[in-house]
Amino acid sequence: MGEIIIEKINANDVAIDYKEEYRGQFHYSPLKNWMNDPNGLIYYLGEYHMFYQYYPHDTVWGPMHWGHAVSKDLIRWEELPIALAPDKNGMIFSGSAVWDKDNTSGLFDDVGEGIVAIFTHADNKVVPGMDQAQSIAYSKDKGRTWTMYENNPVLLPTNTTDFRDPKVFWHEETCKWIMPLAVQDRVEIYTSPNLINWTFASSFGAEEKYIHRGVFECPDLVQVPVKGYEEKKKWVLMLSVGDNNGVNKKDYETPAGGSGMLYFIGDFDGITFTKDDKAMNKEEILWVDYGADFYAAVTWSNVKVEEKPIWIAWMSNWRYARETPTTNWKSSMSIPRTIELINTKKGLRLSQQPIQQLSTLKESIFKGEDIEIEAGTDILTGIQGESLEIVARFEVKDAIEFGFKVLKTKESETVIGYKSRENKLFLDRRNSGNTSFDPAFPAVHEVELMEEYNEIELKIFVDASLIEVFGNDGMYVISDQVFPNWGKEKSVEVFSKNGSVKLRSLEIFRMNSSWNQ
Ligand code: FRU
Repeated sequence: MGEIIIEKINANDVAIDYKEEYRGQFHYSPLKNWMNDPNGLIYYLGEYHMFYQYYPHDTVWGPMHWGHAVSKDLIRWEELPIALAPDKNGMIFSGSAVWDKDNTSGLFDDVGEGIVAIFTHADNKVVPGMDQAQSIAYSKDKGRTWTMYENNPVLLPTNTTDFRDPKVFWHEETCKWIMPLAVQDRVEIYTSPNLINWTFASSFGAEEKYIHRGVFECPDLVQVPVKGYEEKKKWVLMLSVGDNNGVNKKDYETPAGGSGMLYFIGDFDGITFTKDDKAMNKEEILWVDYGADFYAAVTWSNVKVEEKPIWIAWMSNWRYARETPTTNWKSSMSIPRTIELINTKKGLRLSQQPIQQLSTLKESIFKGEDIEIEAGTDILTGIQGESLEIVARFEVKDAIEFGFKVLKTKESETVIGYKSRENKLFLDRRNSGNTSFDPAFPAVHEVELMEEYNEIELKIFVDASLIEVFGNDGMYVISDQVFPNWGKEKSVEVFSKNGSVKLRSLEIFRMNSSWNQ
């Protein structure tokens, strides 16, 4: 008789096919285990790279690695082996990647060019008590393998432990690499000719007292075009603000509580970022997203769509990220979005649009025009699905509330709509399914519109447990996770409350899966 081999079956090794409960079909998630921030986003030699904060041994946060996925279209992703793993300098926290096309670093003397990752080594023991420092690694084979720079770290902190998340870019005018860095309650900017020697240039944010909610994380400084004004661009400083664990007063929270993102519009001269008080109302906080689940978003390096940067976020919230009820894996990325600025009565404002390539997954399943919706009638009987895009244009009439109920079963639903008396767009996930894993989870998230519109446009993406709502020109965005009762047919309903509303146009698309294509 031959030897009996007993295989130990680990829950994590069970065949997984991206069809599990709650798995988004057109949102990226790792096959298994924990993921948080997108890192090292770069377009290089025909591929979009997405690295991310990853813990390969459990579904909760642990010593951070950089996971890796590549795509040709930002939609269909292939997960690759881990790119960077903790070493003697510590764990691999968030950071960026750039194309060193002129070999400024001297790391590519043999091949002439390549990509460099700039990230935070955390929990490093190099300088006692200063546990975060910036380091670099480089790749000569399209990001498949990486070599740590031998003299890491390249930038040490002076007096703080929160010193992280470098987002480096090349500044054409001054011929320098620029590194915005999150340093506790401010963004520090460093410059370098070669990605190795860094010099402090300026600091922004400590004096903006009204914005301080949690620790600053993952800054990104990027030039964004203004819609309708050819050639006009402004510098936008994007900032993630960590969860303060509810210690602050309610009016000092992010819009949906926990971690969230804000932005500043201004100018950048290669040294200093200056807020433009004409573009922004003084002391008004400009929030990126009014849902709870859009965090640590950063832009892709080396690529734009008609001058518009593309970015992606981790679709979770530090308040409850560890507790969400997915099985083999924990958390997803958002849909990649293009960003631009729109001139409004209140000044310039960010507008976000899902990337165009998503349309390659969609199939129309309902189309209608000029439909009067009365309270209590449902024109969408029979329309079902867990992965959908809904594109609607409503003419505001006398209904006090209208919109859609999605992922609807007998027991649960998520309501998305507009409240006309309050002029607010909202997403209500109080009865969305499993909400019990955190007291902050069941909630209504809303945003007051800047003006009264005659028409409300909604573009809604529903994907198993991920919902992204883009209102009027992508200026009002709500991104939220929901965990509906599983194993049941999910339907969509369009509703109006206390009165009627006119649907000028409505189209619903089934979104096909992007996995295994
Ligand atoms: C943001 C963040 C970063 C840090 C990383 C650690 O979500 O806290 O500041 O680099 O996650 O995983």
